[in-house]
Amino acid sequence: MAVSTAGEYNYKVVKQFAVMTVIWGVVGMLVGVIVAAQLAFPDLTPHWSFLSYGRLRPLHTNAVIFAFGGCALFATSYYVVQRTCHARLFSDGLAAFTFWGWQLIIVLAAVTLPLGITSGKEYAELEWPIDLLIAAVWVAYAVVFFGTIFKRKIEHIYVANWFFGAFILTVALLHIVNSAALPVSLTKSYSAYAGVQDAMVQWWYGHNAVGFFLTAGFLGMMYYFMPKQAERPVYSYRLSIVHFWALIFTYMWAGPHHLHYTALPDWTQSLGMIFSLILLAPSWGGMINGVMTLSGAWHKLRTDPILKFLITSISFYGMSTFEGPMMSIKTVNALSHYTDWTVGHVHSGALGWVGMISMGAMYYLLPRLAGKREMYSVKAIEVHFWVATLGIVFYIAAMWIAGVMQGLMWRAVNPDGSLTYAFIESIKATYPYYSIRLLGGLLYLSGMIIMAWNMFMTIRESKPVDARIPEVAHA
Ligand code: HEM
Ligand code: HEM
Repeated sequence: MAVSTAGEYNYKVVKQFAVMTVIWGVVGMLVGVIVAAQLAFPDLTPHWSFLSYGRLRPLHTNAVIFAFGGCALFATSYYVVQRTCHARLFSDGLAAFTFWGWQLIIVLAAVTLPLGITSGKEYAELEWPIDLLIAAVWVAYAVVFFGTIFKRKIEHIYVANWFFGAFILTVALLHIVNSAALPVSLTKSYSAYAGVQDAMVQWWYGHNAVGFFLTAGFLGMMYYFMPKQAERPVYSYRLSIVHFWALIFTYMWAGPHHLHYTALPDWTQSLGMIFSLILLAPSWGGMINGVMTLSGAWHKLRTDPILKFLITSISFYGMSTFEGPMMSIKTVNALSHYTDWTVGHVHSGALGWVGMISMGAMYYLLPRLAGKREMYSVKAIEVHFWVATLGIVFYIAAMWIAGVMQGLMWRAVNPDGSLTYAFIESIKATYPYYSIRLLGGLLYLSGMIIMAWNMFMTIRESKPVDARIPEVAHA
């Protein structure tokens, strides 16, 4: 249907990204469950190279971070920037290009990673032709986002947009610098950096991927959807601005905590540790701002499962940003590094913070994009919430116990100085925890499948949506 575009928001691309968030969520988490099962039962899958753990693991991380998380970020940033600027997206054509381009990148990742085509850099595994496509899509994304800010009708730029904007700019910088490589064939390239510099650039990228891809963009979501769903203003707008500048300044310096006790100069490691400790303050400032937004509306938690997702996600954000600075202390890291404690930390951030805030935001968006008052089944949202929360508790508790146990076993020495345990003994001792993690993962995945069903029932017979841009009023 041809509609006059002048006075309407572009909800089409928002809806496309929102639907794909849920679909890629199911796929990425299913692969997560498969790799978790492979660790618990090593002979589970046939010994075909493309099903091997080493190939499926990066498929999992890419699918959950860039496909699930990425689509959630595109959907929400496109929605929020339009609503808070009272302006249609800068270019429908470029927005469509970002959607189809991003889906193509995901499909290419799903084909190349199981084939073993990889640059070998964690979270940046994709080979150079795909990297170029990512750069092109990302530049288009920046043009659409900042172009919309530029043509805004509301003078003030709402804080959520600051977070989305910082995420878009920083990811462009990180991706381009870290992916610099010399291609030797269509499917193989070598990093432009060597030795310890390569490691430093990689973890400058890796940590800021956490800080900007997995945090800043999702904080943008928090600052829009939390006040909206709670029907309260942000607790402190001033704090949100301090939070923004302090967070983006500090994150940039914390990368070396991934390289403690390596060939990296000692002072660089200490610098990374100090900045990681400082990072606790802005992280908790933001967390408190999110939680306190619920002041006076706590009773809504009893009846509103979407709010439950949002508030629980912010609590996990607080938890993982307390744990992270502690793990960056060198003496603590001496115990935690290489163990499953790190994996537990990752997933308290990933399942608790990133996953739950995305789910809350999607439950807010989907009915609005389908012309419905609410999701097809509110009861199913409630079930999803409890199943997912239980899954996270199983997952992270198992990994914490396993991690500390491994760290202690590896450092235990006999009076004569020999090691108390052979490495294989620590692996044997970990098996029960791998099974508990698998159970947690299965629960979390089941929640996601319930969400997918609920989504299809909601959008099945979509009604016309009122997408008119109001003359004056607030977003
Ligand atoms: C059903 C849910 C999930 C399950 C069962 C699962 C399982 C796993 C497993 C088994 C690993 C490998 C751990 C190892 O090498 O020892 C892993 C790694 C990882 N997963 Fe997940 N995962 C799930 C969801 C997610 C989500 C939603 C995200 C992000 C938004 C995520 C991000 C990661 C990351 C970043 C790693 C690499 C961790 C590291 O290198 O320390 N996962 N996951
Ligand atoms: C103040 C905030 C944070 C700090 C200071 C921090 C610090 C750390 C430290 C010290 C490690 C272990 C490095 C190692 O021993 O190898 C780590 C690993 C990791 N963290 Fe955090 N963390 C923070 C927040 C988060 C959040 C919110 C997330 C997810 C949403 C996250 C995701 C990860 C990932 C994916 C890794 C594993 C990287 C890898 O080895 O593959 N972190 N973090």
